[in-house]
Amino acid sequence: MKGLFFGDFFEKMKIFKGRIFSFLKKPDNIHDTGSYILLKKGAIVCDETGVIVEIDDYSKLAKKYEGIETEDFGSKIICPGFIDLHNHFPQTQVIASYGTKLLEWLNKYTFPNESLFSDDSHCERESKVFLDLLNNNGITTTVSFGSVHVNSVEYLFREAHNRNMCVIAGNVLMDRNAPNTVLEKADKSYLNSKEIIDRWHNVGRCKYAITPRFAITSTPELMEVSQSLIEENNSCYIQTHLSENIDEIKTTLELFPEHKNYLSIYDKYKMLSNKTLLAHSIHLKEGEIERMKESGAIAVHCPTSNLFLGSGLFKYKELEEKGVRTAIATDVGGGTSFSMLRTMDEAYKIQQLENFSLNPLNSFFWATLGNAECLGLQNQIGSLKTGNYADLIVLNSNSTSLMSHRMEKCETLEEELFILQTLGDDRAIDAVFIAGEKIKQV
Ligand code: GUN
Ligand code: ZN
Repeated sequence: MKGLFFGDFFEKMKIFKGRIFSFLKKPDNIHDTGSYILLKKGAIVCDETGVIVEIDDYSKLAKKYEGIETEDFGSKIICPGFIDLHNHFPQTQVIASYGTKLLEWLNKYTFPNESLFSDDSHCERESKVFLDLLNNNGITTTVSFGSVHVNSVEYLFREAHNRNMCVIAGNVLMDRNAPNTVLEKADKSYLNSKEIIDRWHNVGRCKYAITPRFAITSTPELMEVSQSLIEENNSCYIQTHLSENIDEIKTTLELFPEHKNYLSIYDKYKMLSNKTLLAHSIHLKEGEIERMKESGAIAVHCPTSNLFLGSGLFKYKELEEKGVRTAIATDVGGGTSFSMLRTMDEAYKIQQLENFSLNPLNSFFWATLGNAECLGLQNQIGSLKTGNYADLIVLNSNSTSLMSHRMEKCETLEEELFILQTLGDDRAIDAVFIAGEKIKQV
C-alpha cells in the first residue's frame, strides 16, 4: 500500500526546469547579488497541492524525483508570478479614454462604465476578461477595487476561485459626489460588505479588502461604516486612494475643512495600519509622510496611471529614505497596461525625471517579493521557496526581434532584466502557472 501511495503522489507532482531567479531580500543596490538566488540549471519541485517542496540545481534533484512530470524551459528565466497591488476590475473598458485628468475622467468615463456592473451577466463576462488579461501578463496575484455593486466582487471571487488564484478585492464604498447608479447608502453598504466577507474572505485564496473609494465620495457616515467594518474584521485589508491629483486634494480639504491634511481624514476613522494600501500617494506633506511611516500604511505607486492622467511624479527616493513602505501597481483603467513590465518601465522614466535611476533589481523585487511583503504574504507568494505556492512565470528575453537583437549585447542578469522591463510586454511572458497549474503557454 505504501508503494502505491507514493506512486499516486509522485504522479501528481511536477518539476519545472530552467534558469531560476527569485529574491531573498530587498536589494541594496544594482550590485547586490546576495539579494537573490539564481540557479542556471535549476529545478522547482511542486507537490499535488501546488506548493513548492524543493528547489535546487536540477543535477542535485534529478535522481530523487526520477519519473516525475518535468517541464523544461531551457535557459529561460523562471521567476515568481507578478503581484499587482492596485487596480480596478470594472475599468477594463475605460482604458485609453481621451483628454481628461482625474476628477473629470471619473465623471465622464469611469462612473458611467462602473454603473454597467449592476448587471450580473456583465460582471461575469468582465471578471473572466479581467483575470485573463492579468494572467496573460504574468500577474498571478492582484488587489482590486470592484464597483459599488456587491455582485461585481462576487463574480470576481468566483472566477479567481476557479483559477485557484490569490485575489484580494472589495466592493467599492461610495455614497456621494457621483451619479446615483454608482452610489449606495452607508447602512446598505455595511450589510453588503459583511455578507461578502462571510462568503469569501479567506475562502480558497480569496481575501477581502474594505474599499472606501476616496474621501470625496464618502460622507462622514460612510467613513464610520468603513471604521466599523475594519474594527469587526481585522484580518481584512483596507484600500483607498490618497493625494493623487492637486484638484482632488483641494476638493477633499473643502469637504473636510476641519482636517489639516488629506491623510488625517483616513486617520480619524482608524483606517491606517500595515494592511492599508494607499494608491498613488504622490503629493504628500511632511506630516503625512511621517504618519505613513509610523502606521506602516503602504504608498502604492501606479506609474502608467500617473503619467496618463497627468497626476504627478511619485517621490520614490524620498519615501524610501524616510522609511515609508512602497509598492507598485498597474491601476488599470487609469493605468494603461496590464503588463508589469510596461509598468516598471514607466516607473523608471518617472524616477529619471526625479533625477534618480531606479535599478532593475529594485523594480523586479517590487513586482514580486516586495509587493508580497506589503501584503504580509511573503510565506505564500512573491518568491520561489519551499512552502510557497508554485505561482510562477517564464520570461522570454528574446520575444521580439528588437529584444533578440539587443540581447546579443547583453552580459549580465541585471542588464537582461532591464531589457525585459524596457522592451517587454505580454509577449515576453512565455508561460504562467498558478499553484502549479498551467494558465498560459505560448
Ligand atoms: N480616485 C478615486 N477613484 C479613482 C479611480 O477609479 N482611479 C484613480 N486613478 N483614482 C481614483
Ligand atoms: Zn485606483
